[in-house]
Amino acid sequence: MTAGPIGVFDSGVGGLTVLRALRERLPDADFVYLGDTARLPYGTKSPDTVRRYALQAAEALRSRQVQALVVACNTASGFALDALAARWPEIPVEGVVEPGAAAACRRSAHGDIAVIGTEATIRGGAYQDAIRRLRPDARVRVRACSVFVALAEEGWFDSPAAEAVARAYLADWFDGPEPPDTLVLGCTHFPVLAGLIRRIVGDELALVDSASTTAAVLAERLGPQVDGGGSVTFLATDGAERFATVGSRFLGTPLDPAAVEIVDL
Ligand code: DGL
Repeated sequence: MTAGPIGVFDSGVGGLTVLRALRERLPDADFVYLGDTARLPYGTKSPDTVRRYALQAAEALRSRQVQALVVACNTASGFALDALAARWPEIPVEGVVEPGAAAACRRSAHGDIAVIGTEATIRGGAYQDAIRRLRPDARVRVRACSVFVALAEEGWFDSPAAEAVARAYLADWFDGPEPPDTLVLGCTHFPVLAGLIRRIVGDELALVDSASTTAAVLAERLGPQVDGGGSVTFLATDGAERFATVGSRFLGTPLDPAAVEIVDL
């Protein structure tokens, strides 16, 4: 008997960047991915609302007998991880902030780390706290880059508009005399904009996202016995067509809209 699928959720398609890394790391596992597309974005909502949405999304996954839960959303990880772990102590519940912060601290040569994320993630301070816990001497600069979420959801990964936005958000750090040595993409929507961001920040800098480190941490927690058929079930709270079109670009493989089940939380 297999142990059940691994549940993964995000406010939209951003968490598919994490699902992609999880599938690479755990190719035999079965997954259920839920994108709460009807209520996206989470990043402009209050902590209480994000917590409530995250609990509802996780509840929907738990009712499908998941053996582990991955909060593939930095905003929800920052505000709801403790509540989710307390609600389901019998299964591993993993977020993306701690693994991302740990990767940044490992990669940063001089401890000069910049973090970009949604308004709520930056205001909540989860990255700042996690980095300072691991590397108390670090200089941490942060910036909310909420428009990146809309650009990524729109599939505008490499447009002139996206480049203008990236320049407006980031140029002062990187054109200045003391640029950070590491940039954390503290939102699961941002890795698809990495090529564009790289053009603004240059080649020297370490660009960190939490997808592969989160996958490694979960694989470690689950141990070697993860079996299944390598299947993925896709759930969304709205817009199967759009989820499939944009989502396939995050996932790196085509997604059939007919395979996206619309659920109500
Ligand atoms: N992908 C989510 C994150 O990592 C945020 C996107 C949103 O604002 O909903 O924070």
